[in-house]
Amino acid sequence: MICSPSILACDFSNIKNEIEMVYKAGATWLHIDVMDGHFVPNITFGPSIFKSFARRDMLMDVHLMISDPLFYAPKFVSAGADLITFHYEAVDDVKDTINKIKALGVKCGISIKPNTQADVLDDYLSELDLILVMSVEPGFGGQKFMDSALDKIKYLSDKKKKEGYNYLIEVDGGIDLVTGKLCKDAGCEVLVAGTSIFKASDPSLIVKKMKEM
Ligand code: DX5
Ligand code: ZN
Repeated sequence: MICSPSILACDFSNIKNEIEMVYKAGATWLHIDVMDGHFVPNITFGPSIFKSFARRDMLMDVHLMISDPLFYAPKFVSAGADLITFHYEAVDDVKDTINKIKALGVKCGISIKPNTQADVLDDYLSELDLILVMSVEPGFGGQKFMDSALDKIKYLSDKKKKEGYNYLIEVDGGIDLVTGKLCKDAGCEVLVAGTSIFKASDPSLIVKKMKEM
């Protein structure tokens, strides 16, 4: 399994050390939650703050929970993003958004909120590098996992097997060792986890166990 620790739950006053800690525990991805106070009712940070902690030796998995992903995507790419995931619900033209993000030379993912069904993505599956299934309403860490995500993961996993698509399936929200295992069994390949890692008494152990799952 790929474990992508979400820095939303880390100690921001100590962010570089927090990232180093999950890196040393074996995390090869880092999940960066970008919120604009418009698409979601919370604000995190923009490209310049991201740039101050971005690193080259981990995959920078940037989750844009913002209303205008195409305006900000180039700025996050310049700041160090390797993968840009935007929300299906935020854009009018999904194909155009995918093409423009890929033209920036990074991988492109799309995310769906809990009330969005997975089959809305059917027309785009062959072009995507990653699909992020939200298992909470985006905006805040520390929420309870919604098991409606499991059917969507299964649907996307079956499609991938049947049609030979290349996208990775990622899940985000309320993921710990128990809910992560349910997602893995449904076909998920990337686990995003904030609270269950950074608020654990031994964060490194959680990263290791998620990877070994
Ligand atoms: C929620 C964010 C998540 C969040 C997950 O809007 O997209 O990445 O940080 O946090 P936990 O793991 O605490 O649910
Ligand atoms: Zn996220």
